[in-house]
Amino acid sequence: MTNIFSHQLITLRRRKNLSQNDLARKLYVSRQSISKWENGEAEPGIDKLINLSEVLGVDLDFLILGKEKLNDLIIKISGLKKAFSQPVLQGINLNIYGKDRIALLGSNGAGKSTLAKIIYGEIEADSGHIENHINIRNDLNVMTQNDVLMGDLTVIEHVQLTALIDKVYSRTFIEQMIRKFRLEKQKNTYVSKLSGGQKRRLALLLALLRESKLLLLDEPTVGMDLSSIDFFWRYLDHVGGCVITITHDFNQIDKYFSRVLLLKDGKIAQDISVDKIHSHNQTIEQWYRQYNDGEEQA
Ligand SMILES: Nc1ncnc2c1ncn2[C@@H]1O[C@H](COP(=O)(O)OP(=O)(O)O)[C@@H](O)[C@H]1O
Ligand SMILES: [Mg+2]
Repeated sequence: MTNIFSHQLITLRRRKNLSQNDLARKLYVSRQSISKWENGEAEPGIDKLINLSEVLGVDLDFLILGKEKLNDLIIKISGLKKAFSQPVLQGINLNIYGKDRIALLGSNGAGKSTLAKIIYGEIEADSGHIENHINIRNDLNVMTQNDVLMGDLTVIEHVQLTALIDKVYSRTFIEQMIRKFRLEKQKNTYVSKLSGGQKRRLALLLALLRESKLLLLDEPTVGMDLSSIDFFWRYLDHVGGCVITITHDFNQIDKYFSRVLLLKDGKIAQDISVDKIHSHNQTIEQWYRQYNDGEEQA
């Protein structure tokens, strides 16, 4: 467990803005112990592990059982092109790894959704190659930009149906997820009668019913109210595997991503780690405005 645990510990501690000292104090251990755990020289006992998962606000499983070999290449994209009436993607080259938390940025019409659709197989590229090291059918979960929900089912029917298809059906699990996503009151409401934000929450719930090696989210927070957005980012933090999120919601993204891609003029114009952006004292939003030529809509 050591490698995954150490990696998770370091990532989660930083995300909580805790120093090794802060964490040591909260757990009643020495700073040296934290340092050894992070270096993989020692492992905490189970009681400390449980404390740790509480302090870091994650499930114990997530702390110790990384879902993937973290550095595995999961998708390799080479020379990908796609045109509609105009060229949209003009030679995309991209390696995606199992641990990546990617924010995919770009102006409206840059081709972000098109790239996502090609990755999840809804449309075909004109040329180029995608090498999948995951099973697109079983290992990939998607939340599309436009909700693809069945309006004439009730919320609970929809969740049950998707859970059956995803082979994760369990009554308690379904009840739990509906509660977590704050759709309990709407359980028996027809999906067509939900508000825009409620539909987005349901779409997210459905995308997260089964575990995935790659989760693709296309503008997930659009139409959500502020508390749902907060909930969304916190929830996402607990999801294992690779996450690619297309978003214009810069509010909280600095905490949740490790890598940023900028799609511009049909190419990946920038591919940079969030640490690097921060090391130049920039937020992702400032960086984005600089590199996207300030052409972004208000
Ligand atoms: N099915 C389609 N038919 C024709 N044009 C399309 C289609 N899908 C997308 N486009 C065009 O491709 C460009 C990129 O669209 P899209 O990938 O949705 O951009 P983004 O998600 O970055 O806003 C836009 O100019 C859009 O109008
Ligand atoms: Mg789009």
